[in-house]
Amino acid sequence: MIQLPKPEMKGKMSLEEAMSKRASVREYRQRELTQEEIGQILWSAGGQTRPWGGRTVPSAGALYPLEIDLATPEGLFRYLPERHRLQPRATGNLLPKLAAAALHQNFVARAPAVVVISAVYERTKRRYGSRADRYVHMEAGHAAQNIHLEAVALGLGSVAVGAFDDGEVHRILGLGADEKPLYLIPVGEPERRP
Ligand SMILES: Cc1cc2nc3c(=O)[nH]c(=O)nc-3n(C[C@H](O)[C@H](O)[C@H](O)COP(=O)(O)O)c2cc1C
Repeated sequence: MIQLPKPEMKGKMSLEEAMSKRASVREYRQRELTQEEIGQILWSAGGQTRPWGGRTVPSAGALYPLEIDLATPEGLFRYLPERHRLQPRATGNLLPKLAAAALHQNFVARAPAVVVISAVYERTKRRYGSRADRYVHMEAGHAAQNIHLEAVALGLGSVAVGAFDDGEVHRILGLGADEKPLYLIPVGEPERRP
């Protein structure tokens, strides 16, 4: 288990500046993200902010159907929001495989880190039935937007990638039978500001 550094609650950039600067970044400097940057990005995607379990992202019925993984050249990690930790899941660089599964969008392989948002629909379906799919997708959007804005606030950049082969990504990441990948979000220091 990897304990991530405590997330900062004050940044150097206002929310408005981050929103105005956000744009998709697909070219990254070849440097690893620091543990602080990784921790801050994952916290924004679903870190716990309330003693009862409330998070940075709203969730229909507080059922939290999303799972967040991080793929880096070192390996694959699952984010555990309760204690702000990473659970190692695999070693080795899965990014080239993820890029191939993303219809050969090769910038995915060149990013220093890719956040993967997956969902366990059943958690939300149990209570909300046929409305669950839309609720889960709305929540993934909340998480993704937090990542995009947090990235900008940290001087990083990101891009939402929705075009990929679901089955391939599922297999590469070794996701559970009830988990479905929804978004790949490469994050890195921009080669140049868009
Ligand atoms: C649901 C969704 C899926 C997307 N999938 C991809 C993708 O597979 N590859 C990609 O390069 N960009 C993808 N994008 C990013 C869009 O291309 C981008 O947001 C759009 O061109 C607007 O540019 P901007 O983000 O720089 O404002 C996706 C965006 C969304 C919201």
